[in-house]
Amino acid sequence: MKNILVTGGAGFIGSNFIHYLLENYGDIQVVNLDLLTYAGNLDNLADIREDGRYHFVRGDIHDRKLVEELFDAWTFDTVVNFAAESHVDRSITNPDIFLTTNVLGTQTLLDVAKKNWKLDPDDKYSREFKEGVKYLQVSTDEVYGALGPTGMFTETTPLAPNSPYSASKASADFVVRAYDKTYGMPVNITRCSNNYGPYQFPEKLIPLMINNCLADKNLPVYGDGMQIRDWLYVEDHCTAIATVLEKGRLGEVYNIGGNNERANIEIVKLILENTGKSEDLILHVKDRPGHDRRYAIDNTKITTELGWSPKYTFQTGMASTIEWYLQHKSWMDKIVSGEYMNYYETMYAGR
Ligand code: NAD
Ligand code: TYD
Repeated sequence: MKNILVTGGAGFIGSNFIHYLLENYGDIQVVNLDLLTYAGNLDNLADIREDGRYHFVRGDIHDRKLVEELFDAWTFDTVVNFAAESHVDRSITNPDIFLTTNVLGTQTLLDVAKKNWKLDPDDKYSREFKEGVKYLQVSTDEVYGALGPTGMFTETTPLAPNSPYSASKASADFVVRAYDKTYGMPVNITRCSNNYGPYQFPEKLIPLMINNCLADKNLPVYGDGMQIRDWLYVEDHCTAIATVLEKGRLGEVYNIGGNNERANIEIVKLILENTGKSEDLILHVKDRPGHDRRYAIDNTKITTELGWSPKYTFQTGMASTIEWYLQHKSWMDKIVSGEYMNYYETMYAGR
């Protein structure tokens, strides 16, 4: 892994991953291709702006000409695709862009990578690719749909997405699979559970609740708050992706989970306790349409086959997350002062 294209690197997980790469790999060139949608924030990368190994390009993964120019300039050996529209609530009100970015954008990246990595791009029957190249698609456990009170998602659980967001991610996974099966493209897909940690945009549960607590605003809990997610600290996600890049068997899917199943209401109460605020702030609001009840990841494959395991418990991860947001109030204040407030008013009005 020498020249790596990271897409969506100005978002939550992508920016954490770029920090992780620069801290842990000495001799590496990282190009961050990001469109800077509402979710992209260059402040997440301000501390590495001067690092000679890091290069930012503003642009769309669906812009084939641009992606081709970047491949020409950098001869990437690795692509990690984080770029996506990532918020379920937004996908319910505006699905179109989810299909364009998440599906067609993915296909554009795959296609340009194939053209550059295939030993004989003109021979449609050849399945030979350069040594040491890999495309990694960052997917989600939401492609598997929802679970009842028991059971866990394994890599062989049939895909049954329920939201426009998860449908677009599942579609992208199928395209990645097709590039492996049809062309022999060296790929991996990772499917992780809900991430939390530094630099997460405050439309998502944990930073939204922390932000509202600090502002003494109501905490909007959807429905009864008993929906369960399996929380993964973002640094653990980064180490898992690096492990799959280095050791993942080509063509394989790896689930990544933190072994931390929690009900939303439990998380909200923990945040209230840690910020010294009253439970009176909790406000049960109308539930999300088609709300998945429970997600839980079985991470046996990545732990046994590749030797990865999460380092953070929910207690240590939440403590460091809350501390980070308390220490970075100006980061949050800058985000919530702009377009985000319009979004917030529209999304929660009348609930
Ligand atoms: P995010 O919304 O914080 O960041 C997405 C980034 O992609 C932003 O910087 C945005 O500007 C960029 N982007 C959007 N459209 C683009 C385009 N057309 N071209 C280039 N860049 C574009 O998302 P995140 O939470 O960091 O998630 C990253 C990836 O991980 C996504 O693919 C998401 O589906 C997946 N994932 C996230 C979670 C989670 O809990 N956050 C869980 C499972 C999977
Ligand atoms: P979210 O962070 O949007 O992630 P995802 O929908 O991808 O799991 O939501 C996590 C859980 O928190 C989900 O069950 C919805 C719930 N939730 C609330 O109860 N209130 C909120 O304001 C938000 C944003 C989410």
